Amino acid sequence: MSNKTISTQPFDGQRPGTSGLRKKVKVFQSPHYLANFVQAVFDSIGDFSGQTLVVGGDGRFYNREAIQIIIKMAAANGFSKVLVGQGGILSTPAASCIIRKYSAYGGLILSASHNPAGPDEDFGIKYNIGSGGPAPEGVTEAIFQRTLDINQYLIAECEDINLDEQGCFELAGIQVEVIDAVSDYAELMQSLFDFDAIRNLLADDFRMVFDAMHAVTGPYGTAIIEGMLNAPAGTVINGEPKEDFGGGHPDPNLTYAHELVDILYGDNAPEFGAASDGDGDRNMILGNHFFVTPSDSLAVMAANATLVPGYKDGISGIARSMPTSAAADRVAEALGLDCYETPTGWKFFGNLMDAGRVTLCGEESFGTGSDHVREKDGLWAVLFWLNILAVRKAPVASILADHWKKFGRNYYSRHDYEGVDSAAAEQVLQNVRDQFDTLPGTTMAGRIIASCDDFSYTDPIDGSVSKNQGLRILFVDGSRIIFRLSGTGTSGATIRLYLESYEADSDKHGLDAQDALADMITAANSVSQLRQLSGRDKPTVIT
Ligand code: G1P
Ligand code: ZN
Repeated sequence: MSNKTISTQPFDGQRPGTSGLRKKVKVFQSPHYLANFVQAVFDSIGDFSGQTLVVGGDGRFYNREAIQIIIKMAAANGFSKVLVGQGGILSTPAASCIIRKYSAYGGLILSASHNPAGPDEDFGIKYNIGSGGPAPEGVTEAIFQRTLDINQYLIAECEDINLDEQGCFELAGIQVEVIDAVSDYAELMQSLFDFDAIRNLLADDFRMVFDAMHAVTGPYGTAIIEGMLNAPAGTVINGEPKEDFGGGHPDPNLTYAHELVDILYGDNAPEFGAASDGDGDRNMILGNHFFVTPSDSLAVMAANATLVPGYKDGISGIARSMPTSAAADRVAEALGLDCYETPTGWKFFGNLMDAGRVTLCGEESFGTGSDHVREKDGLWAVLFWLNILAVRKAPVASILADHWKKFGRNYYSRHDYEGVDSAAAEQVLQNVRDQFDTLPGTTMAGRIIASCDDFSYTDPIDGSVSKNQGLRILFVDGSRIIFRLSGTGTSGATIRLYLESYEADSDKHGLDAQDALADMITAANSVSQLRQLSGRDKPTVIT
């Protein structure tokens, strides 16, 4: 067996963002494309000779082929060991857990998150550093620069490894260990949550459904919820990961997780429902005929954290992305904790967690997590909720009603306008920006505007500044209207409109969010001309 040097050419590598490099499968299948990117990563991450690399993915189409290429390249480039999940499977949070647990140098995670999978759909790859978190901007930028002048890559000439058999194998002079994809992660969950209490809850007449959406959390959910927590067989639905995710769009929200929503809003609905996305980092929490917004979910977790063994001594602080509602801020204030407001994207939480400033983090986009790993974690959030329910023995809806009574309710909704013409989308934002000077002091939707800005963030740990993170109209009473463009959309532009209004009076907590926000929605449209410019009379997705 020998190493082969293959001459190649610089390529249009697209700047990998926090979610790494995402392209159609066909692009990744074109000659040398994946190998070029992997070599660009290996050329940009420092000296890893003698170290371990973790590799795994969400099981989507092309996962196995990509892993074979990566293992052979890791061998030729000087890693001494590769840890790979059995069947090529590792959820994103499990990969983060394994990188940390085995002090790996880093990991390559293969996923395009919640985006559809299959021969004509999406594939993706990202590099995570030794902390278990996504590579910071300095590293992703170095990778991108390298894609522009790369001229060769190294790959071992050898047979494929059998990804289905656990064990340690020698390949091209290095060790390749095929590990159980679930057990390290399951062990971490068991160390954080009261599995006995959850088992007792599930042994009562409490019923739940977990929808793995034919994606990576199937084996994790089945092993933990049905296996370790003894929930009846069938509690996990769509639990078989499929290469095309069953033709679905595994994004756990009210639109795409409709099968679960129908169950929780149907006759004889169970007490609890939850779903996770393609690669296992997002979560949606439902009660019987009840939807918990991700913003409220973070706030409830923070307020109840000491009921959970892993957080029984209290949390050090909370961080939320700017568009996430301020519900968590109210909990932080009551508990005397710091609350950080960061730009959209999980990477902004890493420094805060590494420095011990925050324990819990969340984004309105169905992302919640803690410092147990350095990625958001879907199943972790589900277990956190089950632990709270096991201790409080109350329905999800009444836990929220109690929470709002104590802290007030932040009515919240996000309206997405997908596939909008890019120039029109820019104009929508420009219309808002143009009024920044005149709006403060005036009244909109019956509320006085305090200020307007384009959100900017200075990282308190490394001092780095991130500008232009979203346009905010901030009201005196704490209400907010926010406009930003998505950084992850694939066709045209996606405009995200975030609406939030605060209600202290518990007699007014029972409204539907869209009704409670109706005036704000109208005002947001007239200030931006959003509907006229986008040519849409309603959003594509409402969450
Ligand atoms: C979206 C979400 C954001 C999340 C990101 C990656 O980004 O809004 O919270 O971190 O996906 O999962 P956006 O498309 O809004 O830029
Ligand atoms: Zn994801």
